[in-house]
Amino acid sequence: MKVLVTGGAGFIGSNFIRYIIKKHPTYKIINLDKLTYAGNLENLADVEQNKSYRFVKGDICDQKLVDQVVEEGIDAIVNFAAESHVDRSLYDPKTFMQTNVLGTQTLMESGLKHRIKKYIQISTDEVYGSLKEGDDPFTEKSSILSNSPYSASKASADLLVRAYQKTFDLPAVITRCCNNYGPHQFPEKLIPLFITNAMEDKSLPIYGDGLYIRDWIYVEDHCRAIDLILHKGKVGEIYNISSNVEKTNLEITRMILAYLKKPSSLIKHVKDRPAHDRRYALKAEKIRKDLGWEPEVSFEQGISLTIDWYIKNKGWWEKVKSGEYLEYYQKHYIKRENS
Ligand code: NAD
Ligand code: TYD
Repeated sequence: MKVLVTGGAGFIGSNFIRYIIKKHPTYKIINLDKLTYAGNLENLADVEQNKSYRFVKGDICDQKLVDQVVEEGIDAIVNFAAESHVDRSLYDPKTFMQTNVLGTQTLMESGLKHRIKKYIQISTDEVYGSLKEGDDPFTEKSSILSNSPYSASKASADLLVRAYQKTFDLPAVITRCCNNYGPHQFPEKLIPLFITNAMEDKSLPIYGDGLYIRDWIYVEDHCRAIDLILHKGKVGEIYNISSNVEKTNLEITRMILAYLKKPSSLIKHVKDRPAHDRRYALKAEKIRKDLGWEPEVSFEQGISLTIDWYIKNKGWWEKVKSGEYLEYYQKHYIKRENS
């Protein structure tokens, strides 16, 4: 099988490529990535010499380039490429619409033209909007009620994928996963930001009261789910993916501080994110029942593996944190911390 993975130099994409190369050594994997601030080829240093893997630098919005890659006999496209951070979408929504919506459409056009056998759109639980305490978790049938530009761009792409599947018979499947954590996550998201800040004795900026809830999954469990969907997922379906681990941001922060033996005085409550979704929680019965998927990593195991990885890979995140990210952080985050 020849698989085009887009956004493979990012967090989940790089973990997926590593997973799929190990699980299916005969597959050919092409990684198309623009290498934005979030894309980092060091994430794939251990696979770059592998004969079944190839990297192509480019934009998923570039129809000519995408066509060239897909016409090489691609069987399946797994689309991870995206602008993925809610906070950034508050400052630069247009880039989110371009990559997340138009990029998706470009990939699907090529997929149709070259008759691929499967198109997987990696979407997110954030498209369902926010839950209150006591509400039932979201199912695949829940309404789409985006609150952030990031979520709106992902939801728009989902609707377009649905339309391409219904109208043009694109063999598409949509996955909606909860919050991921694990090795190689860019340190702008909650868990890696707080691990690395704590290691540097810097403050941990908690938005608002810190009682916002997210449903967390270890990245490798997500990768196993996508692999199953690639092989057995039913065309036209949406699959929620979740380990059902609901935690408040403060609970997670305290676990990180305890593991690193750092004081709780590092916690700093800062101005809240606008339209901050209070709670995400997902029902993932469909993938469990229909495809036999189960998460294998508990939150306690996963967070230890993750913190240990950031301890061992200080060079990786120090470099990442001193680049374009630092400029962005100084412009936006420091303003928030001081307000
Ligand atoms: P990430 O930001 O770490 O990586 C995104 C990758 O996409 C980067 O390598 C970047 O260079 C690449 N990219 C961005 N724009 C591109 C473009 N125009 N053309 C080609 N490549 C481009 O993101 P992630 O956390 O790995 O998320 C991957 C996917 O999973 C996204 O679609 C995201 O919406 C979805 N998702 C993420 C989570 C999560 O918790 N991180 C949860 C559910 C779904
Ligand atoms: P984040 O990792 O940005 O993911 P998402 O917004 O996609 O869920 O944020 C996870 C939670 O942590 C969310 O409730 C916002 C909160 N948060 C903070 O309190 N401080 C921070 O510095 C960050 C990045 C997030």
